Amino acid sequence: MPVSYRQLQSFDAPKYREIRLQSLRENPDVFEADYYFESQQPQLTFEKRLIEKDTDSFIVGAWLHDQLIGICTFVNKNNEAIHGAGTLIQMFVKSAFRRQGIGLALVNYFVQQVIDDGRNQQIILAVSPDNYLAKQLYHKAGFRLLRQQAVPRLDIFYRKIDDKQ
Ligand SMILES: CC(C)(COP(=O)(O)OP(=O)(O)OC[C@H]1O[C@@H](n2cnc3c(N)ncnc32)[C@H](O)[C@@H]1OP(=O)(O)O)[C@@H](O)C(=O)NCCC(=O)NCCS
Repeated sequence: MPVSYRQLQSFDAPKYREIRLQSLRENPDVFEADYYFESQQPQLTFEKRLIEKDTDSFIVGAWLHDQLIGICTFVNKNNEAIHGAGTLIQMFVKSAFRRQGIGLALVNYFVQQVIDDGRNQQIILAVSPDNYLAKQLYHKAGFRLLRQQAVPRLDIFYRKIDDKQ
């Protein structure tokens, strides 16, 4: 399957909105945002950032021809927990395309984009302790557990960008 990976551009905003809302509808337990609330918004937060060419975030996508089948979003220094850390959020692969290595390839591509961006030495992410599949994926991509947060219940993972996997 000829899957390719690239950052989304402003003209990809409608496709981003569609897959992001799909992720919230199909996997409500793993994301903080609420599908019904978000679907009423004329623009999602990162849809707006995409359109406005925000320089403090980007979205990487897995593409099958012109179909967006997976996303992963980066926010520059979004988190105070670790100095100089960017954040990985909104990881999602459409269910028909899972278990084919696309999620792992997407995260690896994401890490390379953060390296190329050059502003962050570490990447952190938060995942529900029960989301075993995602935790395995992140582990394979070189992320390690930083701490377990009690409220809300989240496992915080980090990866130094110069770590070998
Ligand atoms: C988590 C998710 C992104 C994985 O995407 P994917 O394309 O299926 O992942 P990959 O095929 O690259 O799998 C990478 C590794 O993750 C683990 N994994 C992923 N899906 C798995 C499954 N169904 N069963 C067991 N292990 C799984 C495995 O270790 C796998 O490596 P392997 O295939 O060599 O065993 C996808 O399941 C998804 O979108 N889930 C819903 C949204 C979500 O949970 N996002 C994370 C929020 S923090």
